Amino acid sequence: MPVEFLGIGGTNDGSETHARSGASFDKDYTLRLARAHEEHGWDRVLFAYGSGSPDPAQAAAYVATKLDKLQILLAHRPNVSYPTFAAKTFATLDRISDGRLTVHFITGGTDHEQQREGDYLTKDERYSRTEEYIRIVKKAWTSHEPFDHEGQHYKFADFVSDVFPVQQPRPDVSFGGSSPAAYKAGGAVADIFCLWGEPLADTAAQIESVREAARAAGRTDTPRIQVAFRPILGATEDLAWEKAHRTVDAIKQRTSGGKTLTRRHSLTNPQNTGSQRLLEIAARGERFDRALWTPTAAATGGAGNSNALVGTPETVAQALLDYYDLGVDIFSARGYDTLDDAIDFGRYVIPIVREEVAKREQAKAPTPPPQRESIAVDG
Ligand SMILES: Cc1cc2nc3c(=O)[nH]c(=O)nc-3n(C[C@H](O)[C@H](O)[C@H](O)COP(=O)(O)O)c2cc1C
Repeated sequence: MPVEFLGIGGTNDGSETHARSGASFDKDYTLRLARAHEEHGWDRVLFAYGSGSPDPAQAAAYVATKLDKLQILLAHRPNVSYPTFAAKTFATLDRISDGRLTVHFITGGTDHEQQREGDYLTKDERYSRTEEYIRIVKKAWTSHEPFDHEGQHYKFADFVSDVFPVQQPRPDVSFGGSSPAAYKAGGAVADIFCLWGEPLADTAAQIESVREAARAAGRTDTPRIQVAFRPILGATEDLAWEKAHRTVDAIKQRTSGGKTLTRRHSLTNPQNTGSQRLLEIAARGERFDRALWTPTAAATGGAGNSNALVGTPETVAQALLDYYDLGVDIFSARGYDTLDDAIDFGRYVIPIVREEVAKREQAKAPTPPPQRESIAVDG
């Protein structure tokens, strides 16, 4: 299977290590960052969602009109719109981008953050809503006949869309989460299941949970797996590790006195299982496997994609290949210096991983039977 790389479609230059220098939606930076990804071998970028953040669908549409190759992963929370409306937004964006859209459905890991936009369901109820929502979006994308729907969360009659995606039969559905309810919903309806970077053994267990849920839902295929890391690269191992320690010092300085880094995530007692897992892993140890380093997760309270891979490009590429061998075929990576790190990772890590994956695929390909010489037989 080919490997894909997902970067970040950030709308400003801020990160956990430093405050942004301008507005939350910095139009020039948004395009510069996306273009850096396109020019340095990345496949796709994620436009993330936060209750107060700029609308990612519009940021994504802006980038799509300016660039021709880069694909888009649009994060979307079901609580903020009606599924038929969302299906039309996505189909329109797939048209604007000439078929470059994938939608990442976010259930929401924190009650408090969900309540900021009026969502008072519990997390497990939210997963049940996300699953129903995705089924409706898929139907609205593909049904040319009017249809009714009566489910647990939505009821409507006689809907048919007049805008269909370029991608046929439909764009891919991406999904994230690490709780049993997440595996159940994502295992049933996702094309891509996204995990945050954990040690190899923990990742293998999560992949098995997703596959098990897909089988339990009666699927004959299983979702592709995406894993996310924070790469910290150096020209030598020593330089990479110095940079890693500087990175954590900068995060700790910004969180001194309990100051939070974003309104989306608190530094302590996260409600979502994914972040709880990251903190539990960090409590078990700082280093795992070839290059996984957990102090960045510990310093941010397990804030989403927060475990680092530290080392030279060769070391980090080999670490990613270890995950590829587990069945991961999409890598999400975001540095702490978003623009420069996207360029470095694209320039030095992506080519190594692609080349090694191609070799592995070639080694697996069946060898064609030896050609027999044809012998002319006289009649
Ligand atoms: C790759 C990835 C990207 C995510 N992006 C966002 C995002 O942009 N905004 C957000 O609120 N949650 C985001 N999430 C959070 C999840 O969609 C989900 O709400 C949360 O992980 C659920 O928690 P659980 O681990 O308890 O199941 C993301 C998760 C993953 C794995």
